Amino acid sequence: MKIRGALVLAVLTAAMMVVFALEDRAAPLIPHDIFHTIVITNAACTTCHTPGKQAPLKASHPTKEECMFCHKAKHSR
Ligand code: HEC
Ligand code: HEC
Repeated sequence: MKIRGALVLAVLTAAMMVVFALEDRAAPLIPHDIFHTIVITNAACTTCHTPGKQAPLKASHPTKEECMFCHKAKHSR
């Protein structure tokens, strides 16, 4: 049943890409400030960008995964 797993994964990946492609609002750049110079990984983002923490995402925010797919850092390090 390996093939079936691969198919499911391919379909999910394709669905995600469609969602990202349909998203036409521009994602703001990640600021280059004290909050964003220490840990910069997808998983780390949600420690602050979650309800009850420093900077919760708006309810209208597109998706809550793979932050770096849309948000680029303002300056390279
Ligand atoms: C230590 C807490 C913290 C972490 C970790 C963090 N952020 Fe933030 N983020 C903030 C705070 C606070 C603000 C609002 C103040 C500012 O401009 O930094 C912010 C602002 C932003 C903004 C700008 C929003 C706007 O309106 O312009 C983006 C984009 C962003 N963060 C993305 C990310 C991404 C992507 C990650 C993971 C790579 C991340 N943040 C990790 C605390 C954090
Ligand atoms: C599909 C692309 C996409 C992904 C993935 C994505 N964002 Fe966003 N983000 C956006 C767009 C577009 C906006 C601007 C929304 C608006 O103008 O209402 C935004 C806005 C923001 C803001 C500003 C405040 C807000 O809620 O509008 C922050 C902070 C932020 N994103 C952080 C993150 C973090 C953290 C992640 C990962 C957990 C993430 N984003 C994943 C596209 C994305």
